[in-house]
Amino acid sequence: MTEKATLTIDGRNYEFDMFTGSENETCIDIQKLRSETGCITMDPGYGNTGSCYSSITFVDGAKGILRYRGYPIEQLAEQASFVEVAYLILYGELPTPKQLALFRASIAEHAPLHTSLEHHFSGFPKSAPPMAILSAMLNLVSCFHSEVLDVHSEGPGFDKTVALLLSKVRAIAAFSYRMASGRPIMHPNPNLSYCSNFLHMMFSDPYREYIATPVVERALNLFLVLHADHEQNCSTSTVRVVGSSRANLFSSVSAGVCALWGPLHGGANAAVIKMLEEIKDSGKPISHYLDMAKDKSNDYKLMGFGHRVYKNFDPRSLIMKKTVYEVLDELQQEDPLLQVALELEEKTLKDDYFVERNLYPNVDFYSGILLRAIGIPLNMYTVLFAIGRMPGWIANWRELLEHNHRISRPRQVYTGQTVRQFVPLRER
Ligand code: CMC
Repeated sequence: MTEKATLTIDGRNYEFDMFTGSENETCIDIQKLRSETGCITMDPGYGNTGSCYSSITFVDGAKGILRYRGYPIEQLAEQASFVEVAYLILYGELPTPKQLALFRASIAEHAPLHTSLEHHFSGFPKSAPPMAILSAMLNLVSCFHSEVLDVHSEGPGFDKTVALLLSKVRAIAAFSYRMASGRPIMHPNPNLSYCSNFLHMMFSDPYREYIATPVVERALNLFLVLHADHEQNCSTSTVRVVGSSRANLFSSVSAGVCALWGPLHGGANAAVIKMLEEIKDSGKPISHYLDMAKDKSNDYKLMGFGHRVYKNFDPRSLIMKKTVYEVLDELQQEDPLLQVALELEEKTLKDDYFVERNLYPNVDFYSGILLRAIGIPLNMYTVLFAIGRMPGWIANWRELLEHNHRISRPRQVYTGQTVRQFVPLRER
């Protein structure tokens, strides 16, 4: 810490330490603000509030940069498998071939679900949203592996829990789809890759094995790599807040799934497809939807546009768009929604409202079109986001414990009634 920030309140100066991160981001450490001045800061949505020091993911929203542990997302998306990226995010370094083989073997070992756990799937109604099932079942997994409830941030217990979670989240996701579509559970095949195994559990039948083509497997791998972490977003912050009470990892990521579900966060990938379908089917011009999004008298938003951090192109969206073209081409498919999306993007990028507010397509804008192309049903889109985000959630939970982080407990400014006397019921 080299510099100090000075705050003047009622003519009195207070000094606070400043800290500069490895990418020259600066912060003012206000931990002593309340005890020294009696004031708190107000920042709804935490747009300017740092909640932790982290060495996992770096985002520069002005320049459109995203790096996991220092590696650019473009290089990882092009060259790395999701399991390799998960290892990198969790352990800080790229795995050696031997480390990767052991990691893969451990994930494969934990792929099957406990038989009693499988029975729980039949208790959900067919209409149950897969995100609700995923959150509930992740919490439930810990009941069948009580040894992992007391897991700490390192050692064999942690390594086992990591493999278990990365494996189980995939099986739970696939099984929830099977149950909702009235088909029996398809057990994992340990000989398949992470992505192929998921697709096998989703789509194989006893007499017809689904074999993912390399194009489809690559597309899913890329989707998961692009979603693997994104620093202190809503769901990751939720995982950290829950974990800060020293709640176990399973409860913490289960809460993360719930936070991800909302349409302003991970739920946007499905909402984008619904929006594009509505635009296509309505026959109304794009300008009608732009006008609605600009009109402050309603809460309509263009889904897949805008981001708290990116005030330039989201690099994930650029990679996703390029991949959509490649995958549709390789699968010899045409998707009418792609034309609608392209027109919408073109019009927004020229529209003053969106230009002034730096609203660009985010990761969710093209991801749904990619998932449609490889046959993923709409109600599973956000579930796939959750599978992808699992390494990031676990790594953040672990970092929290390593830093012996204080319990999360924001303050408020009370604006309600001041003290008043209770009136008995008969007198009201
Ligand atoms: N359509 C229309 N107007 C928008 C949009 C949008 N998609 N996004 C932001 N704005 C407006 C917003 O109303 C505000 O206008 P004004 O200054 O006149 O009040 C201005 O742009 C600044 O936005 P903000 O409210 O400061 O944005 P935020 O940081 O609070 O919210 C967001 C970020 C992503 C929740 C928001 O942009 C949004 O709702 N987008 C649509 C949902 C979406 O695509 N979510 C996925 C995000 S990326 C994946 C992930 O990590 O979750």
